[in-house]
Amino acid sequence: MGNTFIINGFGGERKLRGEVKITGAKNAALKAIAATVLFGDKVTLENIPEIDDVFRMFELLKGMGAEVEHRKAGSYSVVVPRNLATELPFEIAKRMRASIVFTGPILARFGEVSFPHPGGCLIGSRPVDLFMEGFEKMGAKVALKDNKYTVVAKNGLKGTEFFLKNQSVTVTETFMMAAVCAKGTTVIKNAAMEPEIVDLAQFLIKCGAKITGAGTPTITIKGGKLLVGKGHPYKTMPDRIDAGSFLILGALAAKELRITNCNPIHLEAVIESLRTAGVDVETKKTEIIVRAPATIKPIDIKTHEYPGFPTDLQAPMTVFLTQADGESKVFETIFEGRLNFTEALAAMGAQITMMDPHRVLVRGKSELRGRKLTSPDLRAGLAFVIAAIVAKGESVIHNVDTTIDRGYEDVDNRLRAIGVDIKRIDQSEF
Ligand code: EPZ
Repeated sequence: MGNTFIINGFGGERKLRGEVKITGAKNAALKAIAATVLFGDKVTLENIPEIDDVFRMFELLKGMGAEVEHRKAGSYSVVVPRNLATELPFEIAKRMRASIVFTGPILARFGEVSFPHPGGCLIGSRPVDLFMEGFEKMGAKVALKDNKYTVVAKNGLKGTEFFLKNQSVTVTETFMMAAVCAKGTTVIKNAAMEPEIVDLAQFLIKCGAKITGAGTPTITIKGGKLLVGKGHPYKTMPDRIDAGSFLILGALAAKELRITNCNPIHLEAVIESLRTAGVDVETKKTEIIVRAPATIKPIDIKTHEYPGFPTDLQAPMTVFLTQADGESKVFETIFEGRLNFTEALAAMGAQITMMDPHRVLVRGKSELRGRKLTSPDLRAGLAFVIAAIVAKGESVIHNVDTTIDRGYEDVDNRLRAIGVDIKRIDQSEF
């Protein structure tokens, strides 16, 4: 069942060429959709990627009673009614981690919210303790019964000061949004600094929020009123992970690949690593041009919160390192399940030794061979696509619609346009 990709690999040749246009950022768009709960009027959202996670976020909103209009590709408008339901539709929310960002705005505006423990990608344990601790600090009462959290703040949330034990992206965003509708001032210390947080803050500020410090470890929010959508459309920033994935693919297999509509500044850690490995990367204001080198030097990678090397690009980078001449180390510091996909890479011929759940040793250069693969999550799924393009022979990647399609818009057509031999098969048709 589901969709499958069939890819005929290049067997290590550098054949890709042309231009690939980067879409709006998934992890920014999802938060902007949640932010619509903070508005008293209609909000317009532009450059929204047409991907499954986005569709599910809109389904959640609609399920609670919001009006969502899909105006044209990438363009939506949302009206949240005064009587929005405060329970997230369970079946969707429990399958999608990002649904948790709705909790902050709903609780702050409507005084209560209930939701299931959110699921999502199989990349390691995904606790919610920081959310609960934060809600309690803002004056709410939290209860958990039969896998359902109910959080109540009858008289609204009140501003507070808190220090995040982990620099969490969605926790930072959830509390930044909650604080917009809370009474008084909220200070988030040890906040995450990802560009998607800055993108969200800029949108909220444009619509009337008082936020300073987004993009630094201390964010201050003065709360108290609903935001105004009229005259302030949101335009999603370019997806740095989409861009980074094509950049790494280009570093392995391109004669010359132009990655357009992106922001190279968001990818400095990746570009620096690739250059150290000997890759020719040229950057312009909104464009990256990459050419694969004849030989790749081994390098060590350590994932880190922004501006460090993004965990969401660790899997494609690990594939890249299988083609380096020598030994590289990959240290995944954020999620302990995110190296499990390397087992499948080893089955393709890569020499990879797992040191512990957070560290692998990659010995190259290995000739990869096409295989049948099942994608465990969207980023590892895309890494399998890259491995399949580099490999010799045919690879079959199952589960595409429940993993890769969640986060990459129209990826097969964009790959085909730059020279990849890729077919999508909808197995539900058989
Ligand atoms: C966001 O996840 C992204 N998701 C992830 O992208 C990304 O991998 C991750 O940030 C790191 O950059 C969205 O933006 C929707 P975290 P998030 O909370 O916010 C710990 C993708 O493929 N933590 O920043 O869920 C946690 O266990 C996805 O697009 C707690 O301890 O990640 C981790 O070790 C997958 N308690 C650390 O914080 C909590 O309550 C950072 O994770 C919450 C998190």
